[in-house]
Amino acid sequence: MLYPMSAAQSLTINGGAPLRGSIEVRGAKNLVSKAMVATLLAEEPCRLRGVPEISDVEIVSGLLRLHGVEITSEADGELRFDPTQVEQAHVADIDAHAGSSRVPVLFCGPLLHRLGEAFIPDLGGCKIGERPIDYHLKVLREFGAVVDKRPEGLRLTAPGGLVGTKVTLDYPSVGATEQVLLTAVRARGTTELKNAAVEPEIMDLIAILQKMGAIISVATDRVITIEGVARLGGFDHLSIPDRIEAGSWAAAALATKGDIYVKGAQQLPMAQFLNVFRKVGGRFEIDDDGIRFWHPGGELNSIVMETNVHPGLMTDWQQPLVVALTQTSGLSIVHETVYENRLGFTKALGEMGAHIQLYRECLGGSPCRFGARNFEHSAGIWGPSPLKGAKITVPDLRGGFSYLIAALAAEGTSEVDNVGLIYRGYERFSDKLDALGADYSVTG
Ligand code: EPU
Repeated sequence: MLYPMSAAQSLTINGGAPLRGSIEVRGAKNLVSKAMVATLLAEEPCRLRGVPEISDVEIVSGLLRLHGVEITSEADGELRFDPTQVEQAHVADIDAHAGSSRVPVLFCGPLLHRLGEAFIPDLGGCKIGERPIDYHLKVLREFGAVVDKRPEGLRLTAPGGLVGTKVTLDYPSVGATEQVLLTAVRARGTTELKNAAVEPEIMDLIAILQKMGAIISVATDRVITIEGVARLGGFDHLSIPDRIEAGSWAAAALATKGDIYVKGAQQLPMAQFLNVFRKVGGRFEIDDDGIRFWHPGGELNSIVMETNVHPGLMTDWQQPLVVALTQTSGLSIVHETVYENRLGFTKALGEMGAHIQLYRECLGGSPCRFGARNFEHSAGIWGPSPLKGAKITVPDLRGGFSYLIAALAAEGTSEVDNVGLIYRGYERFSDKLDALGADYSVTG
């Protein structure tokens, strides 16, 4: 294990100093974990490059190994997979992984193709909303899967095999789109998916599947057509970089009045983030290898910000940006339209001196599916508010990184507990804090 895994670990942070320096982001967590699942469909070895050292990769590796996939780790973030001996894992072994991630639900289609049955443990992942899997089960049934809900998880079979179908998603869910892709590529006949998610990580997964032999067309109106093929080969792929991590460090530069060069950050997948960063008053400079983000001095502008599915502003940037918005002058509005409960983390920011009020109404301008319901999914943020150190506990992955930013921006000392969770998606973040001159120590 190359990175600390203790969930109980705490950081004592002396904040109030700008973060300055250079760090690098590697492959996107939300692509790498899915690319790893895609190896289950391959009848030849696969090679994935740019893999970050994060605990989500460990979790998916563990599940793949249980299913007979041999994985070897090479230097410099390269994983090699031999999926030629895929086999059914023991339920008790799979169950030991229960609650650790949401990725196992994507094993359904590939395992049904390879083995004719699949067992999926209860899912984990961040508690940022209910996060049901109803779309996943609906589409799997449309392909011909039979789903048996058991106390310890789900057992799926496909007595007549999996057959291409026409599917329309109620909402462009990332996971359900991936479920359709990973199932349709080897289903009999053609599948048409309407209202698909089109995030860059999904396009990169499609690129991998095409390398393996899949036939997939993406239209401009959220329609993806997949012509099933009888077999898929291996792939060699360099993951797209992690734009969520890049945006998180950019928000840290803004909140701490710092200057951070993020090697690996790319302009196009971050276009909406860059628009927001510029409107707030942050400065950035793009070159071929990365993006430099900095606070130019003086006041920052308050803004209205709404999250949405791609090509909108991604929800995963919302939490780090909210910390930066506590330092803008005037009233900022945030409307979270992807998850009903992704603003709960702001309570602790209030205890650190931020002025944040949550609302059930849709405040950003566009009505969303959480309006007129009992979800506090909009926020008003008054600033600038000097933040002061506090004792805070990491609630979820992105909220956790946001607490680190708040503690680094705050005057005085903070104790941030449960930081192990942050390793799920931020590679070697303590090394990066060192590179940026942060003043902190690790306990636990
Ligand atoms: N939804 C349903 N039913 C379903 C599936 C989704 O109601 O069957 C709802 C969710 O509850 C949510 C919305 O649809 O309100 C969007 O969920 P989506 O399926 O798009 O999200 P996901 O696939 O579970 C991935 C990322 C998330 C990221 C979202 C949105 C992974 C492993 N996770 O989740 O990443 O926020 O897409 O872009 O790829 C993170 O990295 O911190 C993270 C939470």
